[in-house]
Amino acid sequence: MKIKKAVIPVAGKGTRFLPATKQVPKEMLPILDQPMIHYCVEEAVLSGIQEIVFVTSSGKEAIENYFDRNIELETFLIKNNKQELFEKIRKIGDMIEIVTVRQKEQLGLGHAVLCAKSVVGKEDFAVILGDDIVVNNIPVTRQLIDCYDKHHGSVIGVMQVAKELTYKYGIVKGTSIDGKTLKMQGMVEKPKPEDAPTNLATPGRYILKNEIFGALERIERGAGGEYQLTDAINMLCLEDKVFAHEFEGQRYDTGSLEGYLRATVDFALGREDLRETMITILKEKRKLI
Ligand code: G1P
Repeated sequence: MKIKKAVIPVAGKGTRFLPATKQVPKEMLPILDQPMIHYCVEEAVLSGIQEIVFVTSSGKEAIENYFDRNIELETFLIKNNKQELFEKIRKIGDMIEIVTVRQKEQLGLGHAVLCAKSVVGKEDFAVILGDDIVVNNIPVTRQLIDCYDKHHGSVIGVMQVAKELTYKYGIVKGTSIDGKTLKMQGMVEKPKPEDAPTNLATPGRYILKNEIFGALERIERGAGGEYQLTDAINMLCLEDKVFAHEFEGQRYDTGSLEGYLRATVDFALGREDLRETMITILKEKRKLI
């Protein structure tokens, strides 16, 4: 089955970025001149996804407006001879088909994904969590779709983390079937280092068979009193083939201030128009520290 839809949960309150997120959705905070969510949607588009399902909540309207056309702004840019900017803005409005569904209560990631069920229909689909940005020539979601196409099962994107950081992530267990892919036996949500089965953590990239919805309907509240996607994936592991795939790419935890800062510096260094400026700033600061 071709993976055409990606579910992106964006209903969270963004408490780690308060007070900025008091009025602005955290997904709209920019890294340089693009909001964070732009990078995730771009990843989806470059991975062959044709439709994004945002699982949203009140106060997040700016996200869907961002991906809509803004005729007034476009007209203004044309009138003022800002052709290049016009094209950039127009392109965002035409980037991809967007559907939004509401998550009326914040009951966890599993609940958020289940909210997308009627829009996803009978298809298998991708899930992209906006707190992480992964930079690579072949986008991470594409790498996971390739693994799904090869092995015909759900695929969870994983990366190696230091043992002491396992408490931050869902950690997978399984047996290796080739260098980068494991056949999964299950996963543990945010284990203490001593309880972690491996150091392979998911930063929030999944390709899920449609059967996940059945599992999401059956799970009980889990860690933190929330409906956990991890619990539904564990159920799926008992009934179907689920794989973990170690993706390639530089990952930024842009849900944290440190990761946000790192991404900002690296992205500036990676841009022709900003690279020299960033190097100058870093050199100046180096002298002062
Ligand atoms: C969620 C998932 C967790 C995953 C993480 C990635 O947790 O439950 O398995 O590793 O996202 O960001 P959250 O960070 O929403 O608590």
